[in-house]
Amino acid sequence: MILETTEQARSADAGAPGSFALDPRLRHYSTPLPRPDLTWTPQVEEATRHLYERVAKVMPPVEWPFHAPYVKAINDLKKLRNAVILAHNYQTPEIYNCVADFVGDSLQLAKMAAASEADVIVQGGVHFMAETSKILNPSKTVLIPDSSAGCSLAESIDAADIRALRAQYPGVPVVAYVNTSADVKAEVDICCTSSNAVKVVESLGVDRVIMVPDRYLAQNVAAQTKVKIIAWHGACEVHERFTAEEINAYRTDHPGLTVIAHPECPREVVEVSDFSGSTAAMIDYVRNRKPARVLLVTECSMSDNVAAETTGTEFVRPCNFCPHMKRITLPRILDSLLDMREEVVIDPAIAARARRSVQRMIDLG
Ligand code: 13P
Ligand code: SF4
Repeated sequence: MILETTEQARSADAGAPGSFALDPRLRHYSTPLPRPDLTWTPQVEEATRHLYERVAKVMPPVEWPFHAPYVKAINDLKKLRNAVILAHNYQTPEIYNCVADFVGDSLQLAKMAAASEADVIVQGGVHFMAETSKILNPSKTVLIPDSSAGCSLAESIDAADIRALRAQYPGVPVVAYVNTSADVKAEVDICCTSSNAVKVVESLGVDRVIMVPDRYLAQNVAAQTKVKIIAWHGACEVHERFTAEEINAYRTDHPGLTVIAHPECPREVVEVSDFSGSTAAMIDYVRNRKPARVLLVTECSMSDNVAAETTGTEFVRPCNFCPHMKRITLPRILDSLLDMREEVVIDPAIAARARRSVQRMIDLG
């Protein structure tokens, strides 16, 4: 019955490759929809020209015919499903600029997820981000286009580790970076992101906190506060590869270089940088200060995404890919919306406890 209705709706739109009839009755269907025609046609070119302009600085024209049919089909499907796509700043330019409804750092995405009125949230990012969206907006359907999009930080610690830390340091509050599973968030006192970690640590009004799981973020926070930080041994596999020697070599090769490092980088890297902040703070720095030459010491796609919207700044590109972020692709986003998968499901009792930790962070403002 459902497929029959879907086919009828589609045949009414026959002759428009890559598009769906926007029948609002189909919005809540959770069964798979038929695959759209993904041919590159003059109609697809016309319908997506304004979107190509957003990425033209970082994508040669020859690449666009491969992306455009997916971009058009995904944007049509979002209307059909009443869905929004939340994309992290590390998503590739065709996702970030052409199908995302909201982009940002981890904190911004969490706030957008909490406020979303769409029926469906598709997470352009890794699994812990999709879990955070579900935790904050449990009545929505949250989809992750590839549930194996993990994170070396989130995988470095589990709920039993938090319980063991509490036993080892009785009464010491535990702060968890949002790059953790729902199970871990449920065990801790409060969450933080790279944009508010110092503020969160100091908000607790104690002289010692346990901070998990990123040892480098912990070191970088410790350098900015008098609160003693007890760290876990996790690390981001993307940021821990940068070294101070590498940064100094870039400075030698590119005179006048401004270096901006993410706080997941080792302390020695942050120390030889001009600024350190979350991915959103890095973007704001470039937008506001307009450096002539900049090195963004973070995941590759950041430079592409900032370069796409920037004039007058030369981007020197060290390239460390996050293999987990790169699991999210246009074809997987399309499949996700067609088949309504993979849905993020969290035990409601765990989600309620995890929500307390995330909400406490958001309430700090
Ligand atoms: P932010 O975007 O919050 O700075 O986090 C970076 C990151 O590594 C997310 O996986
Ligand atoms: Fe995790 Fe690092 Fe990838 Fe972010 S960049 S998702 S912290 S592995």
